Formats: sequence, structure tokens, C-alpha cells
Amino acid sequence: MNMREKSASDSLCIAHLSDPHLTSLHGARWWQLINKRWLGYRSWRRKRRDQHSSEVLDALLQDLRATCPEHVLITGDLTHIALPDEFRQARRWLDRLGSGETVSVIPGNHDAYVRTAWRKTWAHWLPYMESDPAWRSPGRGRKLFPSLRVRNGVALIGLSSAVPTAPLVANGRLGARQRERLVRILRQTGERGLFRLVFLHHPPRPQDENWRRRLTDGSALCEILCREGAELVLHGHGHINARTSIDCASGEIPVYGIPSASAVGHKPGHCAQYYVYRLLRAQGHWQVQVNVRGWQPEAGVFAPVGEHQLRVPAMPSTNC
Ligand SMILES: [Fe+2]
Ligand SMILES: [Fe+2]
Repeated sequence: MNMREKSASDSLCIAHLSDPHLTSLHGARWWQLINKRWLGYRSWRRKRRDQHSSEVLDALLQDLRATCPEHVLITGDLTHIALPDEFRQARRWLDRLGSGETVSVIPGNHDAYVRTAWRKTWAHWLPYMESDPAWRSPGRGRKLFPSLRVRNGVALIGLSSAVPTAPLVANGRLGARQRERLVRILRQTGERGLFRLVFLHHPPRPQDENWRRRLTDGSALCEILCREGAELVLHGHGHINARTSIDCASGEIPVYGIPSASAVGHKPGHCAQYYVYRLLRAQGHWQVQVNVRGWQPEAGVFAPVGEHQLRVPAMPSTNC
């Protein structure tokens, strides 16, 4: 896909999509399913394979050619049960979407369904997950995160909340090491006056999910975001629209969650959507134009379903 050329000013057009669950399990072997994956496989056969459609994803790719974002963020759950072949399928789809330079991916709980070998799974997505060279640190798997990519005055800060969990549990966790690095990244990018966009799979606020599906260290994350500051937080996981905020002494941090990018809409409020954010630095603040585009089953295309604006205070720029 052709992405728009970068402009020199502090402005960026970003598309956010999530939870495409784009893989097929038709080739799965019985011996690959002798653990928690068996439950996930049964769930896929009974309902999930009808809830997520490649036709919707093809229409989404077509629509992205028209909206033409400079960068695409994908907040996890590309797979169903994290089989090695699913990671290869997802990589082929990512290649259709764009290069690792213009597409950023973080994993979701389904991408860490059970413990897997890095080489056979997440390694396929490395170009889409790793930080810009200047911010890269040694490590693989969850040690890649927080990832940091800087584009036109915007710091794209990716967190991984994907950890293997017990059957019927879909919790996420960042862990102390990732939270400590996040503090440093928020501080450094804030001092440079960048727009800090944090993206992760699970909703950051623990109260926004039940105990089996929440981010277990979400309270600690919210404390860090309040203390160090962030301009916008994006997530997936719930497969529904969720507009909330993290309330801090200094103001509110907007938090946006979105439906699955491939959902045909069997349940009310679950029809596929993606969001387009146009960020523009103005005098002392950032203007954020938010456009929501949704799947229209009758027409077989994505079309506008909502829009609004945010005004976000800008950190003073010191050296960017
Ligand atoms: Fe999901
Ligand atoms: Fe999820």
C-alpha cells in the first residue's frame, strides 16, 4: 500500500485498527492443540470464524488506500491461538498493508495464547514491532517493548501486555521492567516536546474490563501516565468502542478503544471500524481530528460513521 509522503511540519495522519483475528485454523493439527489451544480452537470453530471475515479486511485495505494515512497502528490480536502458521499468515497480511517503516504492531493476548518459540512466532513480525534504530535496545519477545518510533513530532510508544494465561483467562500484564522503561521514554520524549501516543492491547484502566480480562498492572500504568504525561492512549481487546480518559491532577488523558477490524457485526456495537487521527501542532496545543470509518455490510465497503475533534495541550519543545 502506498502511504502518503512525510511532511516536514509537526503533523501526522495515523490509522488505528485492532483485533483483526485474521488467520484461519483450517490447517491446524491435533497435536498442536493439546493444551489451552484446544479451547481456543473450539471457540473458533463454533463462532469466531463466522464473526471475523477476510472480506471485511479486504475492504478495509481498500479503504485505507483512500484515507491514505502516513502510519498505521495495530493493537494486537492478529491471531486466534498463536500457532506458528498463524504468524506467517499475519505477516503476509502485514506485507500487503505496508512496510515496517509505516506500520507499527504490538501483540495481544491471543498472540501469546500459550508460551511459544520466538523464532517460529513473533520473530515474523519483528520489522513491524521494533523501535527506530536510535532507540533500539538488545532483546526479543516482550523485551522489545516499550517500542518507540518518532514520526513528524509524534512519539509512537508501543507496550506489550501479551502474556500467556490460564484457560478462560485473557488478562494482560506489562511487568516492572517495561513500566520502568516507559517512565524514561515518556520523560525523554516529553522533554523533546513530542506528542506522546501510547498504544497497547488491553485498556489501561482496570475498571474498564472484568477481572478475567483486565490489565493486572493497569493501576500502576495509569499512575505513570499521570505522573510523566501522555497526550493520547489507544487500545483494542474489548472489540467495542470505548472512549474514556485517565483523570490526572494536570488534566485528562484521552483513551480510545475500538471494535475488531474484521468483525461482520453479529452482535450490536461489534461491527468493524477503524479510526483515523490527524494530528497537527498549533499554538501551544495539538489539534486532533478524529474520523471513524465503519463497515457497511449492505454495501460491502467502509464509510464515515463519526467525527470529532480533540484539543490536547502541547509540551513545550526544547530540542526537537
Ligand atoms: Fe481480540
Ligand atoms: Fe484481546
